[in-house]
Amino acid sequence: MPNAKARVLVVDDDANLLASMRRQFAASYELVTARGGQEALDILASGRSFSVLVSDLRMPGMDGIQLLSRASKLYPDTVRILLTGFADLESAMEAVNQGFIFRLLSKPCPPDALERSLADAVRHHGLVESQRENYSLQRFKRLLEGIVQGFSAVVEARDPYLAGHQSRVTALALAMARELGLGQDDLDILRIAALLHDIGKIYVPADFLNRPGALRMEEFSVIKMHPEVGYDILKNLGEDWPVATIIRQHHERMDGSGYPNGLAGEDIVPGARIIAVADVVDAMCSHRPYRPSLGIEAALAEIGSGSGVRYERRSVEACLRLFREQGFQFPPAASAF
Ligand SMILES: [Fe+2]
Repeated sequence: MPNAKARVLVVDDDANLLASMRRQFAASYELVTARGGQEALDILASGRSFSVLVSDLRMPGMDGIQLLSRASKLYPDTVRILLTGFADLESAMEAVNQGFIFRLLSKPCPPDALERSLADAVRHHGLVESQRENYSLQRFKRLLEGIVQGFSAVVEARDPYLAGHQSRVTALALAMARELGLGQDDLDILRIAALLHDIGKIYVPADFLNRPGALRMEEFSVIKMHPEVGYDILKNLGEDWPVATIIRQHHERMDGSGYPNGLAGEDIVPGARIIAVADVVDAMCSHRPYRPSLGIEAALAEIGSGSGVRYERRSVEACLRLFREQGFQFPPAASAF
């Protein structure tokens, strides 16, 4: 017995048979009937979607095989059942072999056999629909990833010293998050936030980013606006995707010494605490216009000395375990996902 009433279209030129099916199945299904192939196609074209289409084979005008064949092309998700007398078995078998019939039932069909087949067909329809939804979701996820990576590349293209930075931070932040036991939803959010964490730098003049030598105070104050700018760019993603908040807080520090708002401790969201550590490690390992790479040991020493002060202790410990015990290495930018 289905949970919600599935819609079933039964096609037969025998009015008595349609009436008896209505009596038998009205309680279980939303049953719609048609007296012939063309009427059935008109009903299908009216916009209502049907889980199952049951058709007699022998009917005047369009026969059941022609109807189910056309329905299979026009409405491939509607599961098709053919009712046939013994004399028509050969042509019915051909229809089965062509693949557009889910079940072939003999006529007259015992009520319990028809009931079982309808239940099977409705279940099959549910499966087909969920596979289609899953496929659409997967396509949408690939689209989203492509867009996110495109934006990530736009930011990095303006700053050669940023090349690959967001990808490497993403790889390390995700590894840390897995180490900390975060669930898949949080990992998805963290990944997008990490890939875009410096997106606010698109508002920083390119010569600030590329110029060798120490930054002037006013230049640094412009660069310090990038978490807030990043938040403004992404805030419309809404509460389900708190990416913007993570980005806004990725330069905050646990002791309140960070920017832009001097948040401390639990006021900083967990994703931002993780990215803060990954960001510092990669930044120190990378060359900058004003200094060469400081190396991984210096980076690990920095987060170690700031553990529980500037950086969240759990995140630091996860990061140190990854490098010291699990041989974590930053992957090449193109394969960081
Ligand atoms: Fe940043």
